[in-house]
Amino acid sequence: MEALLPWLAGTPPAEWMRLSRWGYAAVNTLHVLGIALLVGAITALDLRLLGWRRRLPLVPLARLLQPVAIGGLCLALGAGLLLFLADPSGYAAMPLFWLKLSLISLAIANALALSLGAGLAHATPGRLAAAGGVSLGLWLAVVVCGRLLAFV
Ligand code: HEM
Repeated sequence: MEALLPWLAGTPPAEWMRLSRWGYAAVNTLHVLGIALLVGAITALDLRLLGWRRRLPLVPLARLLQPVAIGGLCLALGAGLLLFLADPSGYAAMPLFWLKLSLISLAIANALALSLGAGLAHATPGRLAAAGGVSLGLWLAVVVCGRLLAFV
């Protein structure tokens, strides 16, 4: 880790992030766009899992919202990695940064556990509601951690 972080800071993308006039701003905008797609789609799906608008069929709704959420997640992850490269040692020294990554991992594991387990079509209402509630709480906490990173 001690050698890896300074090496990462010297890579061409890291130098571009630090030196480019508009690079950091553009990547930050892409990060926020990814977050908007991810959290917007996942919040709508989670509310349905919690039982809101129960008459809307879950499987077709998920077929629409899941690809939007996954696209947003990929964009947020890619742009987040570039933001991290701007100051690898600084971010790695922040417990809040590691908390945010741990929460992201838990939120992804929660979604995979439902999809790869019973699946949306066969899970009980209680299982769906539990997954939706956990997901809402975790993604909200990730957004709060991300925003607070700028202030610690
Ligand atoms: C995928 C879900 C993610 C969410 C919901 C999220 C959320 C956020 C939010 C809300 C901000 C503040 C943006 C602003 O106010 O301009 C932020 C900034 C940031 N995020 Fe993320 N993020 C995610 C993934 C990641 C990942 C995977 C990384 C690193 C590998 C990362 C690294 C960063 C960094 C370095 C900042 C800038 C902090 C600063 O201002 O110093 N993010 N994130």
